[in-house]
Amino acid sequence: MKQLISLIALIAITINLSAQKARNKYVVETKNNVMVFTGTIDGKFNFQYYGQKVNDVTQIVKSGIGLNEDAYPAFGLECTEEKALQVTHSDGNLSVDLYLKAVNVTKVDDNVTLTTVSLYDNKYPFNVTLFYKAFYKEDVIEAWTEITHQENLPVMLYKFASFAMPIRSFNAWVTHFHGNWSDEMGMVEEKLERGMQVIKNKEGVRNTQFDNPSIMISLDGKASENQGEVIAGTLVWTGNYRIKLDGNFKNQTNLIAGMNEDASNYLLEKNEVFKTPSFVLTYSNAGKGQASRNIIRWGRNYQIVDGNKERLIILNSWEGVYFDTEEKVMLEMINDIADMGGELFVMDDGWFANKYPRKNETTGLGDWDVNKQKLPNGLKPLIDRAKEKNIKFGIWLEPEMVNVKSDLFDKHPDWVVSQPNRTTILGRGGSQMTLDLANPKVQDHVYNIIHNLLVENQGIAYIKWDANHFISNVGSIALAANKQSHFYIEYQRGLHKVLERIRFTHPDLIMQACASGGGRATYDFMKYFHEFWGSDNTDALSRIFIQWGTSYFYPAINIASHVSKSPNHQTGRSYPHKFKFDVAMTGRLGIEMQPKDMTPNEYEFTKVGIQNYKRIRPVIQFGDLYRIVSPYDNFGMSALMYVSESKDKAVFFGFNLDKNLTYNFPPMKLNGLDSEKKYKITEINKEIQGTEKKKVKSRVSSDNGIFTGEYLSKIGIQINLREAYQSVVIEINEVKL
Ligand code: DGJ
Repeated sequence: MKQLISLIALIAITINLSAQKARNKYVVETKNNVMVFTGTIDGKFNFQYYGQKVNDVTQIVKSGIGLNEDAYPAFGLECTEEKALQVTHSDGNLSVDLYLKAVNVTKVDDNVTLTTVSLYDNKYPFNVTLFYKAFYKEDVIEAWTEITHQENLPVMLYKFASFAMPIRSFNAWVTHFHGNWSDEMGMVEEKLERGMQVIKNKEGVRNTQFDNPSIMISLDGKASENQGEVIAGTLVWTGNYRIKLDGNFKNQTNLIAGMNEDASNYLLEKNEVFKTPSFVLTYSNAGKGQASRNIIRWGRNYQIVDGNKERLIILNSWEGVYFDTEEKVMLEMINDIADMGGELFVMDDGWFANKYPRKNETTGLGDWDVNKQKLPNGLKPLIDRAKEKNIKFGIWLEPEMVNVKSDLFDKHPDWVVSQPNRTTILGRGGSQMTLDLANPKVQDHVYNIIHNLLVENQGIAYIKWDANHFISNVGSIALAANKQSHFYIEYQRGLHKVLERIRFTHPDLIMQACASGGGRATYDFMKYFHEFWGSDNTDALSRIFIQWGTSYFYPAINIASHVSKSPNHQTGRSYPHKFKFDVAMTGRLGIEMQPKDMTPNEYEFTKVGIQNYKRIRPVIQFGDLYRIVSPYDNFGMSALMYVSESKDKAVFFGFNLDKNLTYNFPPMKLNGLDSEKKYKITEINKEIQGTEKKKVKSRVSSDNGIFTGEYLSKIGIQINLREAYQSVVIEINEVKL
């Protein structure tokens, strides 16, 4: 029976339960999971359980398994544990004591149900509302909080989490995604011990370069791909964040996730509503793989711009020519990517500014006028050429930033994030600053820059939106003295206002979020952006690791993944062109080199590879990802596959990471296929060797064979990648015999 007997949460109309006095169970239900709360009107509202479903949830509470903690713990009465909420009331009282007023359940549509929990303080006109939005098919819950009050003077908020949940943590482990510039999304797995573990960011502008606001908690030992209980969660926010995992003596860990409140005390005015970002979570009893697929399905269906629309194959000019974006070279690049079968050309940094021309990273940011020396005829010839070649044209911008040497800074020195009486810390090139987006005038300016560029140059289809600085010298002339600590939040609010306007006036514009590489890989930004640049590190081996971590929370359509030149500009390492291409194919394929630098065979391989990618693109971009061998397992290889939703098509990728393996690889047991169906397996992207373009022998023992899904998953296929950096791509198609 799909619906639980006590499941008030699924009643099809909005019901106000405030009249009910008895202790109730409130269940937020998705296809396989339940989140259970208990509460009494005018009594406490408690969290009991999150995990797999049972038919009778009353047993969870009766058995004592239920955790019975405040659903949104507030500081003041019980003071020893970490809290979701902490305030000082207008009269100086430090405590909050919350009681349940009502629970409302609204069925948004056939798949989505919103449960709204209203809580009030019994001594102060201070209210908290908890929201739990359940996405039934995706098995995902999105949770957020609103805080408001009617006290006569402002209330100071010190802690204002999005979501809190106690977790049993007897042998629980957390995986988080730690990194650095050029080394994003490295997976780190640590046991949850007593004491607090904090995953956080304080860069202000962007937040995923060092640690992504996403975690996976495995409840029964280290997480594995296909087994075990896993809770995965991600904070939908691009500003400072903090995910706390506070383990106590009860072998219980309190998860508290939200904005990072450091230096962000918030003075809440009477009747003002403070809305937190959402925390999106799922539970899986089939390991990390299923948890990841749930979040990604939710992302594509509900969060990412055009989440179910194919992404184009791109040539980006950056690593090919860096700042030398001369007209002739740009036109040649457009010709080449069109000739290779690509679909979009992006002119990266270097094309703008005249008073202080953008010759390198030290000048010009803020002055978005076309540089007359490099592009004497403006953007028109480039847009026209792209049109003529039937591809799209895109351009790089860094709209939130300004250089000291720029016309903009000459005219508006007060528009940068800075503090009176202090020297401003300068970023990239020793000359970069952040524009103050907490200031409405600056918001308008940034919006108009982009809007006017798009209107005056009809035919710009894509923007790569970069952000290469963090916030320093926190403060804004647009904020009152007693609200300077709102800056981090107001910056993000201002930025979001600009993005909302752009999406509204330019709904078809494709946008990439870039922030010194993968600094803005968040579901918050994916509401506005189609994708993010995975990393400034385009080294294929590094990318295998970076994209492996990234793929746990983001689909291939989000992960811009480009083929670059050997030796690689970041690491100095060289690989076969096929290896680089196959790695790039696992994400949103692109090229990040001057095509003129390719050998004839590499050029030819690229052409064929692009055709192949177009054919298998729906499987990669919209299929479910099954990870077969992790690069983190140190077997010297990694393998993964994408499977279409209807399980009629799949694509397998295998990579030899760095070993000369003289023995055969172990059989690759495929996953995600339908055991009843029959599949033909065909190696594609075979290397082209020598001047006669002789194709090399297949790296799949049973190339072109037909096997059942059962055979492929239980016994597997044999691949042969004996030398370092060999790779294989196998197209798998259902055959109806
Ligand atoms: C940093 C980005 O990550 C690169 O891809 C490139 O766009 C440069 N900025 C341009 O300055």
